[in-house]
Amino acid sequence: MNEAAPPSQVHVVDHPLIGQMLTVVRDRHTPPSVFRENVRQIGYMLGYEATRDLAVRSVKVQTPLETTDGVTLATPVTIVPILRAGLGMADGVLRLIPQAHMGHLGMFRDEEKLRPVSYYESVPSEATRGPVLLIDPMLATAGSATAAVARLRELGCKDIRFICLIAAPEGIANFTAKFPDVPVYAAVIDRQLNEVGYILPGLGDAGDRIFGTLNE
Ligand code: PRP
Ligand code: URA
Repeated sequence: MNEAAPPSQVHVVDHPLIGQMLTVVRDRHTPPSVFRENVRQIGYMLGYEATRDLAVRSVKVQTPLETTDGVTLATPVTIVPILRAGLGMADGVLRLIPQAHMGHLGMFRDEEKLRPVSYYESVPSEATRGPVLLIDPMLATAGSATAAVARLRELGCKDIRFICLIAAPEGIANFTAKFPDVPVYAAVIDRQLNEVGYILPGLGDAGDRIFGTLNE
């Protein structure tokens, strides 16, 4: 765990249930089915925190007895996972906000240069009209996340919130330097990156563990 306080735009969601689920996903012996279920559930809980301040508008609602005041979300919400690994967490956030629109950004990390390579993009127009929850479990160098935010900005998205499972201090520093106005919601900030850009202690390769493509 990194002891230095992160910038105020970074929200580390400290919760016993998240801590327990994080322990399960870190465990190298956890099979993909259990890994996926825990990542999905953490996505749900982080999504809850990341949407606390969503704007609502007043509506009237008819109960079986009388009419009363209620609220509904004022703008559309769009969930954008970074493929592949973001899909696992996005599933949890979609359960939280079933009416959300979905976009996808396909990006993999060139493991030699540690640079993101974009291979797919589909972002609905609603993303420019309300909050966008950008999702990727791992913020390592932040190359992928910063490329994704830059692209969403180019497309006209204004309210972007980044949700990840584990962040490296290096990734936090890079991301917040580029986008000081984009809040980050993370389950934990780990110690450091290793020499090949993996987060320590981390959980390994999130995409491989979610989709069972790990060749051990
Ligand atoms: C992983 C992860 C992030 C990226 C993080 O994706 O899901 O997208 O690495 O690293 P960075 O912060 O240094 O950019 P990966 O390239 O393994 O692709 P995958 O999701 O398809 O497995
Ligand atoms: N991507 C991952 O999946 N894991 C890491 O530790 C770093 C990048």
